[in-house]
Parts: sequence; C-alpha cells; structure tokens
Amino acid sequence: MSTTRRNFIHTLTKGAAAAAITPVLGSSLDGLAPESSVTPIITESAGSFEPTKLRYRVPHKIGMGGVALGNGFAETDDTTALQAMQGAWDAGIRYFDTSPWYGLGLSERRMGNFLHGKDKKEYVISTKVGRLMYPDADFTHPLWKGRLNFNYKYDYTADGVRRSVEDSLLRLGIPALDIVFIHDLSPDNGDMKDKWVEYFKVAQNGAMKALTKMREEGLIKAWGLGVNTIEPAMQTLEVADPDVFLSATQYSLVKHKDDLEVLFPACEKRDVSIIVGAPLAAGLLAGKDRYLYAGEKPKDVMDKYAKMKKIATAHKVDLRSAALQFTAAPKVVASTIPGIRTAQQAAENYASMSAKIPVDFWAELKKEKLIEERAEVPKV
Ligand SMILES: NC(=O)c1ccc[n+]([C@@H]2O[C@H](COP(=O)([O-])OP(=O)(O)OC[C@H]3O[C@@H](n4cnc5c(N)ncnc54)[C@H](OP(=O)(O)O)[C@@H]3O)[C@@H](O)[C@H]2O)c1
Repeated sequence: MSTTRRNFIHTLTKGAAAAAITPVLGSSLDGLAPESSVTPIITESAGSFEPTKLRYRVPHKIGMGGVALGNGFAETDDTTALQAMQGAWDAGIRYFDTSPWYGLGLSERRMGNFLHGKDKKEYVISTKVGRLMYPDADFTHPLWKGRLNFNYKYDYTADGVRRSVEDSLLRLGIPALDIVFIHDLSPDNGDMKDKWVEYFKVAQNGAMKALTKMREEGLIKAWGLGVNTIEPAMQTLEVADPDVFLSATQYSLVKHKDDLEVLFPACEKRDVSIIVGAPLAAGLLAGKDRYLYAGEKPKDVMDKYAKMKKIATAHKVDLRSAALQFTAAPKVVASTIPGIRTAQQAAENYASMSAKIPVDFWAELKKEKLIEERAEVPKV
C-alpha cells in the first residue's frame, strides 16, 4: 500500500499509542531527559478543567531560538549555521525551538541537519503550526533574507496541523516532536490584525483539539501558543487545555509588565509553564542596534536601556547575562530561548546563565523603577 500524507500520520499515531506502553518513539513522558519535570494536566470535564494527569515542563533553563538559523535579520551560510548548532550542543544546550515560518523551512532543515543523528532522548525540540509551505521560486519576505523557494498559507484546522507536524518531522529528519506551538495567532500579526479572532475560532475547533489528541496519544508531550501578545494566550486558557506558552517580546528586562501582571498569574493557577522568546529584545540587550522586528526604536525603551547600561557598568555586570537570567528567574518560566546565530553566541549565552550578578544591581534597577518591583530576580 502506498503511504499517503494521511495514512503516514495515522501510522505515526498508532505507533505513538503503542509507545504509551513501550517508549519506542521517545515520545512517552518517561522517555525524556532525566531532569524532566511534570505537573498535573487539566482536562475539560463538565465545562470546567480538572487536574487528571501529569503535565510536561521543559527541563532546561536555557534553549536555542531558531529565528537566526532561518536567516532572520541577516543571511547566514550553512556552515555557520551548523557550527552554531554544534557550538550550542558543546556548550550544553539541549532545548531547541524552531518553526516552519523561520526562513520558510530553512531553520528546521538546518536544525535537523545537526539533530537527526542524535538520540531523541538527549534533547527537547519545539516547532510550530499554523502556516503551511508550498513551493514558489520567486517568493521574498522582508523578515527572511536570502533565497526562500517557498511561500506560505495559514491553516489552523485539525488537518492542517497534522500536515504541518508531518512536514516538520520530514524537514527535521527526526522521529518525534516534544512541543508544538500554534504560531502567530495574534493581533500583532500583520497578515491578520483584528481578523485574528476569526483565525482563533478555527484554531479552537481545529488545531487545539488536534494537538490535545496528539498529546493524549503520546505523539507530542505538550502544546500551546507561540505569540507576541498576551490576549490569545489568555483566551486559550479559557477555551482549551494548553501546557505551555511561548511568550515572545513580552518578558524582557525592558518590557515585562503585562506578562508579569496578567499572563503569569493565570498560567500559575493552571500549572501552565512559559518559554520566554526574544529575551534579548531581538538583539538590543546583547548590544545590537535593533529592537524587536518592526524596525522601530521607541524612545521610552531606549532611555530605559541607556540607564540600565550605566547601572550595569557601575556594578561590572554584563547586561546580556542579566537579561537572560532575568527572563529565566520567574517560577512559571521553564526556559528562556535566545536566538543564536554563531557558535560563539551559543557559548556566551550558555555561560551567561551562571554569571554572578550582585543583588545590589537588581536592587538598583528596582529603586530606579527600571524593572517592576514585584518581578522575580535571580537568586545569587
Ligand atoms: N511568536 C513566536 O512564537 C516567537 C516570536 C519571537 C521569537 N520566538 C522564539 O524566540 C527566539 C528568540 O527570539 P529572537 O531570536 O527573535 O530574539 P532574541 O533572542 O531576543 O535576540 C537574538 C539576537 O540577539 C543577538 N545575540 C544573541 N546572542 C548574542 C551574543 N551572545 N552576542 C551578541 N549578540 C547576540 C543575535 O543577533 P544577530 O543575529 O544580529 O547576531 C540574535 O539573532 C526565536 O529565535 C524564536 O525561537 C518566537
């Protein structure tokens, strides 16, 4: 019998159900890295969400973000990308986040080039769903540099999600995914704007149910949203049973109030964890002349950054290290995932997590009202 897209996923699903008993695909909870931790999962029952089984949490405080490997911000050659992966691995990084969107498949191909030879139990990987790729020789996009060869269309249906997962596995060349995020279903997505609410309804009836089923079948360990605003994540907590949110651009040294006051407490109540995306504000906090993705540099952010830099210099603190440790400090945060372009950045960012930062530095940032008083800061 020929293997069509649909029965390929069906086969995987049957295999994964068996893996719930015998962990052959590396996709059962106990097939994971030794320090993996789990908390009770909440599933819908009579209109409310009741704790029933164990919820997965990424066991690595720092991971590697895959935007730069997709030629985000600048073009990078394959050799440098492979060296960045090797550098991350050698430094000790074992959590990798990517997306079909990052370079229209390029980031997944590059990560997979490195990871496909590794034992799946040795690392954690997340990718995303919501956009399907199709061949287009001439397509260009301002976010992604270099030749793309693919274009994209949105699909948040159950079928679209299954196809996306299958496409990602094939691009990555690995046997299983750990986490799947529903990507960029958010009012800041320029393709959607206010229409994100309509896409959300499709995802609520399609993607969210399909991913919950994949988790129940043991195909994936966890799912959530990967978004740059808090509304869609808050909404998802109302209507579904996510495990983890990739909250990007919302929790950094220079901007963290909404996550801190709204999303984090709501997640804590439900034992949902957070992965922090864009912890370096897309480069600013690592000394780059760039703040996030729209090409703008808001004056209030730049003023805050200048004051922080002065205080960091006075305390002999490396601001990049402070930025990474700050984002990993809250209890609800499972991991922070700086984007990494080179082996050197990988080594530096991993080392940042154990850099000594005096308590007086954090105290001064709070005294000067540069960070929120109630923000958790790293313990020495
Ligand atoms: N909606 C979503 O789901 C979403 C949105 C955004 C991000 N994310 C995830 O979060 C990850 C991180 O976000 P991001 O990559 O956009 O931004 P980021 O982590 O805040 O910043 C990454 C950039 O900072 C620079 N950098 C990193 N380490 C450095 C070092 N040691 N020294 C000097 N410069 C350094 C690099 O700039 P250069 O490239 O210029 O060298 C790198 O590309 C992404 O890769 C992605 O996995 C998800």
